[in-house]
Amino acid sequence: MNELAGKHIVLGLSGGVACYKAADLCRQLIKEGATVQVVMTEAAGQFITPVTMQALSGRPVYGSQWDAREPNNMPHINLSRDADAIVIAPCSADFVARLAQGRADELLSLLCLARPAASVPLLLAPAMNREMWSHPATQRNLQQVARDGALVLGVGHGDQACGETGDGRMLEPHELLDELVASLTPKVLAGHTVLVTAGPTFEAIDPVRGITNLSSGKMGFALARAAREAGADVTLVAGPVHLETPRGVRRVDVRSAVEMAEAVHALVADATIFVATAAVADWRPASPSTQKIKKDGSGNTPALAFVENPDILAAVAQSPRAQAGELLCVGFAAESHDLIAHATAKRQRKGVPLLVGNIGPATFGQDDNALVLVDANGHRELPRAPKRVLARQLIEDIAARCR
Ligand code: C5P
Repeated sequence: MNELAGKHIVLGLSGGVACYKAADLCRQLIKEGATVQVVMTEAAGQFITPVTMQALSGRPVYGSQWDAREPNNMPHINLSRDADAIVIAPCSADFVARLAQGRADELLSLLCLARPAASVPLLLAPAMNREMWSHPATQRNLQQVARDGALVLGVGHGDQACGETGDGRMLEPHELLDELVASLTPKVLAGHTVLVTAGPTFEAIDPVRGITNLSSGKMGFALARAAREAGADVTLVAGPVHLETPRGVRRVDVRSAVEMAEAVHALVADATIFVATAAVADWRPASPSTQKIKKDGSGNTPALAFVENPDILAAVAQSPRAQAGELLCVGFAAESHDLIAHATAKRQRKGVPLLVGNIGPATFGQDDNALVLVDANGHRELPRAPKRVLARQLIEDIAARCR
């Protein structure tokens, strides 16, 4: 999707087995449109060769502060001034200690020290044995570098190259990519708490059957991700979908509309923005059977009676905080035709300031969509684009309404 088009990333490797993942990270950065300048410490060269990293990045690798290829012989200045971000992956325990001390006796720590801290984010992807990770010295150094302005990314948990199991694995390349994209996104929702509902609901008929719909949850997940990238604290209440939780987003899984309503009402008190993208079932079977309903061979079909589900969005929109303007409520409408007319009517019926319309059959399960934003002043169209792009545009629109 070219998430990093036009961005220049310095990818620093310090010594660790996870250097093999840095090769894949380099490829992924380039695939997303970035240019990548690799800088390696001497220890990194024990794990992966500069030849590999040069071939993947398409640029000669730097490894020495005395590199005379730079006309002014100042690679630490030139490399850090050109960068949109510096990513150290893997970041070893020793390298964290060097950063904590402000050491400058080799190129990578020197260029981190020399970076213009206000404009060039420094992301660290720690990678080390679990004992090294949990050692007080490492944790102390990590706290210090975070205080000094570095963004210390988390670590994974699991099998380690040394044969032990625990915390300290480097995050996977796609996770690092997501963190980098987030770090480069303007924080237009900083200080906000966003609650998003997503996906379908499942209304049980009996223990093995139920009624659901074709919502994939992709739009809601993309919105949760975009809100987190924009600096918000985000909780996603998800119906039954098999989508990966966006990094940094808290997820609460629910099944039925009633469960979704309960989860939302428990969480909404802390929210400043509520976005209801879920395709909530309008009705549920009135009395689901506790046992599987059996076909008895008579040809008779079971009679199903329905009751209406709670309207989560309408209820939240009527709450005192929403009415007082402390909680911005945004609804979605999936229509099959006459989008603007239906979305306009739905906005009034639900009592929300902003309602986002889309054509359901044209978007369910797809990776792209087209939206129309309806508010009290009229409507604005967001033309067909990937859901990730539309989510960012919608988050910018929502942020502007919160200012
Ligand atoms: O009424 P309709 O389902 O068309 O309205 C769509 C909007 O209302 C969506 O934002 C959806 O998430 C929300 N909704 C809800 N609870 C329901 C039904 C819809 O929150 N029971």
